[in-house]
Amino acid sequence: SDSKEEQLYRPNFHFSPKKGWMNDPNGLYYKDGVYHLFFQYYPDGNKWGPMHWGHATSKDLVKWEEQPLALSPDDLGYIFSGSAVVDKNNTSGFGDSKNNPVVAIYTYHNPNREKDGKIDVESQGIAYSLDNSKTWTKYASNPVLQNPGIRDFRDPKVFWDAKRQQWIMVLAAQDRTHFYASKNLKDWTFQSEFGKEEGAHGGVWECPDLFPLKVEGTNEEKWVLIVNINPGGPNKGSAGQYFVGDFDGKTFKTDELFNQQLHKEKAAWLDWGKDNYASVSFDNIPQDKRIIIGWMSNWEYAQEVPTEAWRSSMTVAREVSLKKTKDGYILRNVPVSQLKNYQGKSITKKINVKPENKLLGKSEIDLSKAILDLDINKMTAGTYTFALKNSLGEELIFGMDNKTGELFVDRSRSGKTAFGKNYATPVTKAPLSRAYTNAKMKVVLDKTSIEIFFNNGEKVLTEIFFPNENFSELTLSTDTKGSSLHINAHQVNIK
Ligand code: FRU
Repeated sequence: SDSKEEQLYRPNFHFSPKKGWMNDPNGLYYKDGVYHLFFQYYPDGNKWGPMHWGHATSKDLVKWEEQPLALSPDDLGYIFSGSAVVDKNNTSGFGDSKNNPVVAIYTYHNPNREKDGKIDVESQGIAYSLDNSKTWTKYASNPVLQNPGIRDFRDPKVFWDAKRQQWIMVLAAQDRTHFYASKNLKDWTFQSEFGKEEGAHGGVWECPDLFPLKVEGTNEEKWVLIVNINPGGPNKGSAGQYFVGDFDGKTFKTDELFNQQLHKEKAAWLDWGKDNYASVSFDNIPQDKRIIIGWMSNWEYAQEVPTEAWRSSMTVAREVSLKKTKDGYILRNVPVSQLKNYQGKSITKKINVKPENKLLGKSEIDLSKAILDLDINKMTAGTYTFALKNSLGEELIFGMDNKTGELFVDRSRSGKTAFGKNYATPVTKAPLSRAYTNAKMKVVLDKTSIEIFFNNGEKVLTEIFFPNENFSELTLSTDTKGSSLHINAHQVNIK
């Protein structure tokens, strides 16, 4: 049976490995009705160690089942982050027309070369599966892409560029991205470099992704380049930034309007919270949907979070979309619609907001597995402070300052906080560009995480927390007058 700590912290509906250390999501793909999630995994300890790919599958992106280990280290090194593609035309020759191979493209990180102080520690290798990821065969002539003399050279994300009938790989090279092209996933040719002048450079770039998206409500197609960065995030530590532009099969160029946006804001952030890293998207999802998952932790303290048997969990799967405004592009992300299939009992309330408001109590809804839609209306200049509380007096605070124009999460009194550097302070903040009269927050709650989707995912904050007892009550306090709040809370029922 579960240990005390597992009962307290094991997420209800976010993926976490049964035991061992996990970081980035890897090799996300969809085939034959099944979503595959691989992840950076060290099965033999609860801190980062020799990297493997763990594996989990889902029929609906919500309920995950852990599978046996997929890839283990070999003579060429540890198996770092990467991607997987469904090779529908058997360009690799690993399968045949009836059985499309799935090909994983990943980084080899060689610990011996690292020990010797060599530069060429990281190269790219491939492996294939002909049985839907039950078994994997590594390519005999690995690596397929040698190190060009760059110490940090990793995390290949590959996709099929249908227009040019070629595979494109984007990978992180120090604090740039490099693009390579291939016809067969084995021979790769350098195309271009991106990033010298653009975006945040407070750390090394990691886990990039590149994909086309239709601009909402138009037929215009833009390319989105996601680049994770560690450190250098908006609230310190690791985080994900994005770029909007055009890709011609060789070169990625940021869009003019996006450049103006960047000029003002330095970087565009996928998530402003401290705990969403290495977000990448699924290969082969039909209907042009773009679904991402991120690792719900931060390199600043990931190895110290107070769980023993396992460490860390993933965000909920999220669908991204691109919105164009006069001020620039916004990459929105919202929880996938499949979460609605797990909707349990729900409560609706309308409240005239007073200085102190009790919103939800223990008997009404279990706040350790719930989704809240909080719609605030008739807002005035001032602060709307929500608090998740337990009987021990611990609280996780989040909300919106409609005067200074900020969303915030304060976990300084949220339970266990002393384990990690920059964990509890300062308060996490996300700037808002204007004052609001109406605002909406969708809040996804699990035992140790909060995911706040502001105004349909225009701004997102994801954070983890470790109370000594699950939060069971929600309150709102404010210095404003005359606002109203509409709450729709529902249980996430998952077994
Ligand atoms: C990002 C990262 C990747 C690397 C992996 C190693 O969190 O540092 O760049 O491939 O983790 O586990």
